[in-house]
Amino acid sequence: MVSYEELVQIAAEAKKKAYVPYSQFRVGAAILSEDGLIFSGCNIENASYGLTNCGERTALFKAVSEGVRKFKAIAISTDTEEITSPCGPCRQVLLEFGEDIEVIMANVHGDYKICKVKDLLPLAFSPAKLEEERLS
Ligand code: THU
Repeated sequence: MVSYEELVQIAAEAKKKAYVPYSQFRVGAAILSEDGLIFSGCNIENASYGLTNCGERTALFKAVSEGVRKFKAIAISTDTEEITSPCGPCRQVLLEFGEDIEVIMANVHGDYKICKVKDLLPLAFSPAKLEEERLS
């Protein structure tokens, strides 16, 4: 199984492919499945700004579209001194596939912090809540 340092490295590599003509803010991500598979992604911007896809979601969607749905961790790499934590929509999309996924947030030097998705999105609206309601 890959180490978290290696996952951060893969996210940093993916960051080089970021398509960021509007913000110049590069984000790379690498998501690790429970089976040890890794999918990487970057942010992809658009002239219609709201259509931008974040790096985290690119990596996650690549995995899900290949039939992978169980994840252990996702590493996120940016070129900043401060670590960058995922935006709200990415938190919600990650939560869909597991509140215990570990989010490894790395800065430009590869230093990182780890937080579970559930701690990044307290009082979340989750698939489990929807199911509770359906069964009641
Ligand atoms: N961005 C991400 O890729 N992930 C985040 O969690 C936050 C923001 C991207 C979107 C946009 O391309 C750029 O960073 C600046 O907001």
